[in-house]
Amino acid sequence: MDIARADISHKSVGLYYDVLSRFYWIISLIDNKPKFRGVKISKPSKSDKVLCIGFGIGEELNYFLKKTPYVFGTELSGEMVRRVKNKGVNALGFSKADTLNLPFKDASFDIVYSAFLIDLLDTAEIEQAVSEMKRLVKLGGKVVGVNTTFEQGVIGRFLYRIFFVVRDVFCKNMRTRPIYASRFFDCAGFSDISHEKVYWGVECVVGVK
Ligand SMILES: C[S@@+](CC[C@H](N)C(=O)[O-])C[C@H]1O[C@@H](n2cnc3c(N)ncnc32)[C@H](O)[C@@H]1O
Repeated sequence: MDIARADISHKSVGLYYDVLSRFYWIISLIDNKPKFRGVKISKPSKSDKVLCIGFGIGEELNYFLKKTPYVFGTELSGEMVRRVKNKGVNALGFSKADTLNLPFKDASFDIVYSAFLIDLLDTAEIEQAVSEMKRLVKLGGKVVGVNTTFEQGVIGRFLYRIFFVVRDVFCKNMRTRPIYASRFFDCAGFSDISHEKVYWGVECVVGVK
């Protein structure tokens, strides 16, 4: 199946998540499992320096913090950043930044992680984002992405149709859609790429630099 476009400005996406930040805990009830599975697959060690991009209400930050104290996060939505700071999440640094242009030096991290982020970028931007994440990991470090993907079969296709109808009627600025993330990891030139299904319609892709 073809990957749908997600042609919407990042400013609109940021504003959308500013509003959604108040209710995002409801969505988290559904997506916690694959997101945390992605953290497990990342296999962070006690000394690993980790960057979480698009951390939402900060749950993956907290999960990584159980494994290593060297956790940083970036988010497009200023309201998400504010809420996570107010919750007292103990990460070493948070910043408001776009994933296409992250404010860190090359090779700063052992793991760069994102959950349900690259699948809401427009198709041409996904490759750019994955390359930017790759720039930030050390040689031998990992870029880990949890994202929605395609399920095969009649039921899968039927449910995708319903998903797009509901999304376009009720959540106009939510551009999340199924993608094949390993294609973009391939283009970014990782030495080793693996992917695992972590939930229905959700995969975790790991690229080693
Ligand atoms: C679907 S939510 C996922 C949040 C969190 N990772 C989770 O799984 O609960 C996507 C998050 O990515 C952020 N985001 C969207 N576009 C972004 C971009 N270009 N750069 C950084 N963050 C972005 C949104 O503000 C939102 O918090």
